[in-house]
Amino acid sequence: MDTNRLSKPIEDILNKQVKKEADAAQTYLSYAAWADSEGYAGVANLLFRHSGEERNHMMKVIGYIQERGGRARITALVAPPKDPKNLQECFEKIFQHEVDNTTAIYEIVNLSQKEKDWATWNFGQWFVKEQIEEETLVMDLLDKLKIAGGPKASNASLLYLDNKIGKQEDDADLARDASVDNP
Ligand code: FEO
Repeated sequence: MDTNRLSKPIEDILNKQVKKEADAAQTYLSYAAWADSEGYAGVANLLFRHSGEERNHMMKVIGYIQERGGRARITALVAPPKDPKNLQECFEKIFQHEVDNTTAIYEIVNLSQKEKDWATWNFGQWFVKEQIEEETLVMDLLDKLKIAGGPKASNASLLYLDNKIGKQEDDADLARDASVDNP
């Protein structure tokens, strides 16, 4: 008896996402090592932690595929991108990376809707929200760097910024949690 509750296209696109999340973890690891060697210990700390988050995302997708009777496929990973030139480029590349990942998540949700696979659609909603958080987190980093002077930021303001970033929360505040008392 076939107990697989995933169609072949859904199983394939979910497995593509497993690899994407694993690739993302490698990218964050690589950028974290770069940031650390450039002296940005705070940024490195955030990126190392974020690499772990990407692995958690990967585990969620693996778990879901298996839970639905499919088979998660573990494949070779791509090499991380080359080192950024500076913090500005590092944050911009991370932002683009997150936007690309949001597109991939939307493709999963679109396909699940087309196939009326509401279980996968429902599972995908967790990632839709997560991507709002991820994009917001990096937008905040870019905003902070802009205030510090962007590519022309002084060493003193970069040092201050790096300190702040190293201590910040992993999750961004979202509009859906705002209130009059907590704007
Ligand atoms: Fe798994 Fe950064 O999204």
